Amino acid sequence: MASMKVLLTGGAGYIGSHILVELFGAGHSPVVVDNLSNSSKESIKRVAEIAGKTAKFYLADVRDTKKLEQIFKTEKPEAVIHLAGLKSVGESVTNPIEYYDNNINSTLILLKAMQKFGVTKLIFSSSATVYGDPSELPLTEESDVGLGIPNPYGWSKYMQEQVLRDVSTANPEMEITLLRYFNPIGAHESGLIGEDPNGIPNNLLPYVSQVAVGKLKRLSVFGDDYDTPDGTGVRDYLHVVDLAKGHVAALNCMKAGVDTYNLGTGVGVSVKDVIKAYSRVTGKNIPHKIVPRRVGDVASCYASAKKAKKLLKWEAKRGLVEACVDSYYWQSKNPNGYKK
Ligand code: NAD
Ligand code: WQD
Repeated sequence: MASMKVLLTGGAGYIGSHILVELFGAGHSPVVVDNLSNSSKESIKRVAEIAGKTAKFYLADVRDTKKLEQIFKTEKPEAVIHLAGLKSVGESVTNPIEYYDNNINSTLILLKAMQKFGVTKLIFSSSATVYGDPSELPLTEESDVGLGIPNPYGWSKYMQEQVLRDVSTANPEMEITLLRYFNPIGAHESGLIGEDPNGIPNNLLPYVSQVAVGKLKRLSVFGDDYDTPDGTGVRDYLHVVDLAKGHVAALNCMKAGVDTYNLGTGVGVSVKDVIKAYSRVTGKNIPHKIVPRRVGDVASCYASAKKAKKLLKWEAKRGLVEACVDSYYWQSKNPNGYKK
């Protein structure tokens, strides 16, 4: 497919940096807008080491209409991948106003700029969280959404999806793709880019990797009394490089209207499975103890990955073992993430 100028909001973050590598690899020209509220410009430098090309970077908040319009005017992007947003579930519960402001307003202001400059192609980072407490498993793109979404972060994704569907109805020329990510894990195989959470990680894999390198003492397993094969929570863990490649595949298939795709592996894996795989791969013991369930967690959540395979010709190629290898390599090479 022809090379495209692609504006990547939130491109300095965990997923964005991996997408940058894949966009360069596919011959596209990415431009990044990020306010670095949850990332570091070091990731852009590291991407340049991997890709041999440096992405143009704008330090800006997507909600800053003036700056954003200036970027559209200068760069004339042909497509936008919108990743910018706040993503900590716990913080969204204690600070819902900040979460709705950031996540909803960034999308609205971005849409206005796209309209003003005639840009019609948009890929949006949505999440399996929109399915709430799954009504069926595996989750297909037609499964119910909005039932029992447990936190403002999840609602903000649900609302942004609705905004995008409404905008498509009003502007049928818009080409919008909603990508519902399941649980992205792992890192680029170079060990140069990866997930760099602030403080104590909330998510399983970064926590396990910090236990493996000795930064944290012991993992708390949130409940072993779920209705799952071994009692611990089951999720669909997807290698971040596969996820990034899913965006390139989606870019190739854009058409008028709204298309929605799950990006997952289709396989459910338990917390105990993750601990076992991580210890096997790294040779490290992962001390852990069972603690009560975490509020808002569901027992199981995994995708049907069939639609993306059929229509985007995309499927996850990397398994849990590769994700653990890459996660550990990144964490060992960068025990403090991008911080020196
Ligand atoms: P991340 O925090 O690493 O990346 C988000 C980036 O957006 C950061 O670099 C941050 O500085 C930037 N940002 C935030 N608000 C901004 C604003 N107003 N203007 C400009 N930049 C802003 O998170 P990530 O894991 O890479 O997630 C990327 C996207 O994918 C997010 O929208 C997230 O909700 C979504 N998502 C993530 C997961 C996951 O488990 N990581 C799962 C499903 C969906
Ligand atoms: C995975 C499993 C936990 C940490 C979250 C968001 C979701 C999406 C992805 C953005 C669960 C268990 C975890 C720990 C544990 N993000 N766990 N001990 O909750 O599936 O999804 O990230 O869209 O919206 O909710 O991911 O990695 O936090 O948890 O036992 O210290 O690991 O209970 O079963 P989750 P997670």
